[in-house]
Formats: sequence, structure tokens, C-alpha cells
Amino acid sequence: MDNINILISETKIEKRLNELAKQIMKDYGEEDLVFVGVLKGAATFMIELAKRIKNSVEFEFIQAKSYEGTESTGKIEITQDLSGSIEGKNVIIIEDIIDTGRTLEYLMRYLTFHNPKSIKLCTLLSKPSRRLIDLKVDYVGFSIPDEFVIGFGLDYNQKYRNLPYIGVLK
Ligand code: IMP
Ligand code: MG
Repeated sequence: MDNINILISETKIEKRLNELAKQIMKDYGEEDLVFVGVLKGAATFMIELAKRIKNSVEFEFIQAKSYEGTESTGKIEITQDLSGSIEGKNVIIIEDIIDTGRTLEYLMRYLTFHNPKSIKLCTLLSKPSRRLIDLKVDYVGFSIPDEFVIGFGLDYNQKYRNLPYIGVLK
């Protein structure tokens, strides 16, 4: 087995999921919601968060690819689009991690173009020290230092997504 340091335990994640769910329920009252999960990394977080919310929560997914090695240009392309309509609905974009902020800035603009009633951002993790774009993030699970993390949906070369905790590869 590879050497992995646990950064955020399963227990801590579960506690934070409960807090985020409570906050979302408080903010939206009886309103219906649509979660738009950013594939693939946000899938675990989205499902675990949605299970804790009593409102009606529709699921949509979107996938975006940012061109490797072109961090300076930051070109982003949608590789899998929504399957249903978000028009007139309360959208919460669900992301695994915000690093530079480029992916979410792009997705925010793209989804706003589809005329939702409201749109907010929710991320499990944030690396504030890496941010290049000033984004208003409504819900943040944990702010973490600039380390490459895996688990709870996050991968390294498509591996480790199924770990129940957030870890750092050694
Ligand atoms: P951004 O556009 O720079 O904010 O990129 C965020 C995306 O980069 C995330 O959705 C992840 O897919 C990926 N990413 C950034 N940091 C990490 C990490 O530490 N582990 C795994 N994926 C990461
Ligand atoms: Mg991602």
C-alpha cells in the first residue's frame, strides 16, 4: 500500500458535512435545490452532502477540462454538459477543490447563462494560497495548505478517489 498521511479524517469530514447541510437548509428554507456536481471529483461529496439535506435536491453533473501545461492561458472546455434544465432553479455548484479558481469562474459564467433563479458555490476543499481569481465561495468545507491531496473523490491519476478520508501522498 502507498504511504498516505491523513490530513482530514473520516470523522472530521462527516462532522463538517452535517454542518454544511444544516447551513444550506437554513439558507434556503423550503426551496427546492439543484446540485450541479463537477465530475469526477465532486461526486462523493455531492452525494454525502445531499443525503443530509431534507429539501428536494435534483442532481445534475458537468465535466470541464482545463488544458494541461497551459496554466498561464487557463483555457477550459466543457467535456460533459448538463442533461436537464436549470432555468429558474436554485443551483448550487458542488466542487471537490478550488485551487486557482479558473474552473469555477468558467462554470459559474456558463451556468449563469442558463438563467437559474439563484446560483451559489460549495466546495469541500479550498487552497486559498493558490487562488488567481477572486471568487465568492458560499460554502467551504475546509481550507487547506498548498499540498496535493487525494481521497473522498479526489484523485491522483484517477486513483485514490474511494478513500474515505482526505490524505496527502508521500
Ligand atoms: P482550479 O481551476 O485551479 O481551481 O482547479 C481545480 C481543479 O484542479 C479541481 O477541480 C481538481 O480537479 C484539481 N486539483 C487541484 N488541486 C488538487 C489536489 O490537491 N488534488 C487533486 N486534484 C486537485
Ligand atoms: Mg475537479
